[in-house]
Amino acid sequence: MAKVVVLPGDGIGQEIVPQALRVLQAVMADNPVKLEYEEHLVGGAAIDALGYALPQETLKACQKAEAILLGAMGGPEWDNLPAAERPEMAGLLPLRKALGLYANIRPIRVFPALISASTLKPEVIRNVDMVVIRELTGGLYFGDKGRKDNPPSAFDTLIYSDEEIRRIVRLGFQTAQQRQKKLCSVDKANVLESSRLWREVTLDVAKEFPDVELTHMYVDNAAMQLVRYPEQFDVIVTENMFGDILTDLASMLGGSIGMLASASLNGLKGLYEPAHGSAPDIAGKNLANPLATILSAALMLRSTFGLEEKAQLIERAVEQVLDKGLRTADLAKAGERILSTSEMGDAVLEALGK
Ligand code: IPM
Ligand code: MG
Repeated sequence: MAKVVVLPGDGIGQEIVPQALRVLQAVMADNPVKLEYEEHLVGGAAIDALGYALPQETLKACQKAEAILLGAMGGPEWDNLPAAERPEMAGLLPLRKALGLYANIRPIRVFPALISASTLKPEVIRNVDMVVIRELTGGLYFGDKGRKDNPPSAFDTLIYSDEEIRRIVRLGFQTAQQRQKKLCSVDKANVLESSRLWREVTLDVAKEFPDVELTHMYVDNAAMQLVRYPEQFDVIVTENMFGDILTDLASMLGGSIGMLASASLNGLKGLYEPAHGSAPDIAGKNLANPLATILSAALMLRSTFGLEEKAQLIERAVEQVLDKGLRTADLAKAGERILSTSEMGDAVLEALGK
């Protein structure tokens, strides 16, 4: 028996997580090791019920669990709280930090049926298949921040230790070794001191991986290259803020941010969540695309539980559903029939033969 904590959280999280759970239960039905699911409150939902975005009980359960499936945190209801109490700042970031989830993995692939859903030309994206590895517990997100009075000003601090860089870059090399053996390290070493250290450490780690071709790219150029010629990338490794921005950009290569799954890892332990957030504009309408969450569940089976075949079963089912032309609103073209969140869940289950 392995424990999975389920955190639907806010907004569309309440709608998409149940669909991913149905899929997990279906593919795991015949597995000798069973997953036990335990649901907890987090984010705005936890603020409303208990007064805190990350209640002790939720954190403890996550610490004990092997994996966590998260929907999203945040929404306009909590936007007026002081910054430090908002669901993102008081829920999501402390959860990442407390669990030591320093590696955020976002695979960008283009499902053939969605090539035309992208805003980019088919010939540019057809063979895109990359993984972006984003450092998740350091940098601007966690450095000292604050306000000053005279003159009124605000500051955020970008700091990285040698060791923080080393462990994420090493994961980048290891990931590249299992793929096309190409690693692109993204930094801003022409301007930032933290990036100059990033580059030095990367060059040092590279000595352990002579079989991997390493390149360095400035982040502004990387943003441009991601839309100009995205097929050049195999594995990208970068710091927290650059990774946040570049992965939203890269998600459009795959047609919609509604398709972007993610794994936040500390060794085998992982938090799995779609990268799109709580989407308050469509929350509660059964309209959201559950596929990023369903694909995140597949990442969970692969990365935490080592169940590669089960992960592929889910990924193939998603592919089949898309091949059949089934689309949620974010993916549909004008005139195409639009499936609801739960209908998309039904379609994946049907493709799984359940
Ligand atoms: C993400 C999100 C979060 C981040 C927000 C919600 C704090 O954009 O996971 O990419 O910036 O890390
Ligand atoms: Mg983001």
